[in-house]
Parts: sequence; structure tokens; C-alpha cells
Amino acid sequence: MNILGFASVNHDPTLAMISDDEIKFHYEIERYLRIKDLNIRKFRYQNSFNYKLVYNKIQEIVEQNIKNVDVVALSMASTFVFYNSIFTPIMKKNINYDMNFEKFEENVISYAKNLNNFEDHIFFENEKIYFIDHHLSHLSYSFLTSPFEESDVLSYDGYGFKNQSLFKQNNKLFDTGINGGTADFFIGLLWVHGNMLYFNSENSPGKGMALSAYGKINYKLIELFDNIQEKYKNRLIGFAYGTHVHDIYNGLFSKNPVNIEDFYATLQYYSTELVVNNLKKYKSSDNLCLSGGCALNGYINEEILKRKIYKKIHIPPAVTDEGQSLGAALHALYTLEGKRININNPNKIMYLGESYSVPEYIKENLKLEDDELYTFLAKKISEGYVIGWYQGRSESGPRALGNRSILADPRNPKMKDHINFKVKKREWYRPFAPSVLMEEASKWFILNGNPIAPYMTRILKYKKGKSKHVPATTHIDDTARIQTVTEEINPRYYKLIKEFFKLTKVPILLNTSFNGKNEPIVETPSNAFKCFQKNNIDILVLENNVYFRNGDKNIKPFIEESNVDEHVR
Ligand SMILES: [Fe+2]
Repeated sequence: MNILGFASVNHDPTLAMISDDEIKFHYEIERYLRIKDLNIRKFRYQNSFNYKLVYNKIQEIVEQNIKNVDVVALSMASTFVFYNSIFTPIMKKNINYDMNFEKFEENVISYAKNLNNFEDHIFFENEKIYFIDHHLSHLSYSFLTSPFEESDVLSYDGYGFKNQSLFKQNNKLFDTGINGGTADFFIGLLWVHGNMLYFNSENSPGKGMALSAYGKINYKLIELFDNIQEKYKNRLIGFAYGTHVHDIYNGLFSKNPVNIEDFYATLQYYSTELVVNNLKKYKSSDNLCLSGGCALNGYINEEILKRKIYKKIHIPPAVTDEGQSLGAALHALYTLEGKRININNPNKIMYLGESYSVPEYIKENLKLEDDELYTFLAKKISEGYVIGWYQGRSESGPRALGNRSILADPRNPKMKDHINFKVKKREWYRPFAPSVLMEEASKWFILNGNPIAPYMTRILKYKKGKSKHVPATTHIDDTARIQTVTEEINPRYYKLIKEFFKLTKVPILLNTSFNGKNEPIVETPSNAFKCFQKNNIDILVLENNVYFRNGDKNIKPFIEESNVDEHVR
């Protein structure tokens, strides 16, 4: 069965295809259009040119694939774009295509509510359309990409369509919790509105997490979080309650400002305790799958393992709404065919974008065979060169996992500031992730009984005395969001790290996503080339083609020229 998944609440539109029990692709529209944090609802209201671009791109992908599709799987809040347009030819009733978005949502919701069991999926058989709830899609994505036969599953995100948090027990995949399920806690709104106040952006939880390590716990704030929690838990939380949280924060901060580090230190502590305590309360399995945007909080994820609440945890790479299309499609496969995808290698859920050949017009300075390339690059990295590393299919989810990555020497004490200021042009406090050879990881990190971390969804502590050797990939609290790399998962990336290990005795490379300020991760070789030229990257590697800054093979590493002391913290 060929299943096309689509989803977008309003941001992170993606499309996914499953056939022959494998995920064939997972495309993130923002990568093609080069618009970071793409929000189509916003574009729709603004009636902007960008909206048309989004529409055209989605339509192009659908048209290329639709003829082979048996079922189109959508999460409940999937967007109007589709009903109004693209799927019109295959949806012949139930939906009035002319209605506006608000009407459409109303219509779908009332239709769903009239079903006997809103928890279940809705399948319009004749139209080949398969709907599921937003959180059920999150839950399905994490559980159905896990190696577990049974598991507890938690989905929690920023707003949620109905509930903020849903707790699932023992593989009851079709009990979404919307009618009488458990939603005893939420943290998403607390983060979203903190981010709005401090960064004027919903999409900066990473900044808050980074800053949390610099602050102290403020017990007055904990009281406030508790009060908000008490007031809104078990309610149908959404934008309306979000506004209340925003007002509460605003009121508090206008009288007694809380410094940003303490705010996030407290919120991180509060969130961790809340999640951990609720998991203890409802635990019914040794396994746990996490999903929803909050599942990117690696501190919480690691604390769950550290306190041994679960033996095994699975947190796949696209836990944010980018994974919605996959969740819907995986759920359809499970329900309609009784099947799960083959996940004998973690890379089956990691590299799901497109691969491209390098266009002729980008003329390389040097071409090297694989083995020569790794030796050459390992040496250059050890000398302070910053590398744009591009290969194969693009990653699924927000993290660069060795196919669209900027790489550098983690040992260099100036490297963190250099990349933050001169390459990524972002805040000084943002940490960088280490990619580590999996077989060496236990010598460097406290793994809390789980040696597998291929997706950068865990934040681990370094073992005593280790972090001083890799200052560029160590956060202020001696932690790092690691990626364990094996030859099986990513052979070329593995061999490169291994060469660096041979040369330096350090089995780690600094790995940050290949993009400039306010840009999505590069998708095509041309995107990579432009990003390389604009952002002080010393060497670009497109598959086996090597390019030097200013086209000069003898160029010195830019870190030697860059004076990071000029930046005031
Ligand atoms: Fe979500």
C-alpha cells in the first residue's frame, strides 16, 4: 500500500510517502522555499506571494506522487490548502471546498465529534482520505518508528490541538486521550510564552534551554507555574489559554522582572520535575516513546533515563510538527494493513529528504576519492578549518545528522565563539553538539544505561575530566546534545570522524546544522554553495568535490583572523 502523508497545523508543512513498508520520503517544504519556520496560515492571511510558493511546491510534490497513492493520510488539523485545492479531485463529498479555513475546521471538527468514537481515525473510504488527530499523529510517529512491541507513549507540544499532553499506556494506539484520557500536566505553553516575552518568538526553546544552565532557581516562579498548571490542566488548552499565560507572565514581569537565565533555569527544573513525576505516576511499561515539540528537551529526556523510570526511551528525530505527515501515514499503515515499517537500521528514519547531483556550474577546486577525502578533511579540521559537509539525502527533522552539517574541531577553545559569531551569527551562549563514534561514547559520556543516541534528542553529561579536551562542544553545565555515529548508520560520516580520531585521539567532531542566520538547513548543493560563500566557512565538501574559501587552496583558516574578543557578552 502506498500512503502519502501530509500535515501542517499552520507551521512546518511536510509531506511523506510510505510504500513497501518503508518510508520513501519525508520532505520539509521550508527547505525548498528557503523560509525558516514556514507558517502557511500567516501567509494565507497576508495573502502573500509566499503563500503561492508554498501552494505550488506542495502541489508539485503531490502531482509527482499522487498517481501511485492508495491512501492520503492527514492529521486532524491538516491545513485548508489541501481541502481547498490539491485534493479536490480525490475528495468528492463531505467537504465543501469553497468554505474558508475557519468554516472548514468547524466543519471537520463537528463531523468528527458526531462520530461515535472521536478517538478513532476517520477514513473516508471512497475518497482515500484518512484523518487522525494531531496528538495521535505525534504518538504514532514515535511509537511506530521505535523498536518496541509495547511502550508507554507521551506526546506534548506547544499548543496542541486539544490537549497539551497525552499519556498513553501499553500500545493503546487508538485511545488518544481526548475523551477522558489523561492530560494531567502541560509545559508547552509555559515555554512558548516565555519565549514570546524574552525573544519575541515562539520558536526559540533551544535558546531558553541553553540559558537555563546559566541561571538559578527562583521559588516564587515555581509557585506561579504551579498556579497556572492548576488552573489550566485537564482543560482543552489552546490559543485562548495561551493568551492568559502570556498575560500572567506580562503582569508579573512588569512588576518584578525576572532575569532571563533564572526564568529558564526555573522553567527547566519545573518542567523536568513535572514530567518525571507524571511519568512515574502512569508508568506501565519499561519502554517509553516521546513526541511533540517538548520532546526536543534533551534535559528532561535524560533525567527520565537517569532516574531509571524507564529502561529504554525512543525519541525519533522529527518529534515536532514536522513529523506530523509521517505520524499520519504510519498510523494509516498500522491500522489499514496491520503493518509497521522496517526499522532494522536507525537511518531508515533519519535521512529521508532528497539527494542531488552536484551541478556542473559549481566548479570544484579539488576532487578526492572517499578515503583520501577523509584523511584530507580530518587534517584540515584539526588545523582549525571550518567545513561545510554535504552528502546524500537531507535529514528528517530539525537536526543536522551528518548529511547537511557544518563541522569543526571540538578541541579548539576559540571554536565555539568563532562559529557562533562569525559563521552562524547567533548568541554567544548557544552550545554546539558533538558527533561521537558510538563505540567510544561510553569513555566520554555518562550514558545512563542507554548507549544509543543517533538523533540528537538527548543531552548527556561528560565523564569527569573529559570535557576539558573538547571545550567547543561542552556547555557551561558540562553537558552536550550528542549524536552517536556508527558505520551502519552513516558510513561516510563515520569514517571521517574515525580519521579525526586516529589523528587526534578525540573521537568527536563539532556538528552544527548547515545553514546561515535565519535560514533553514541547506537542501540542494546550490543552497550549500551560497551558504558557504556567505558565512565564512573555510572549506565546502559537496560529496567528493572540495571548494576553498575565495577559491584559494592555500587559504588560512578564518578563525586565525577572527577576533572573537571584540564581542561583548
Ligand atoms: Fe504538535
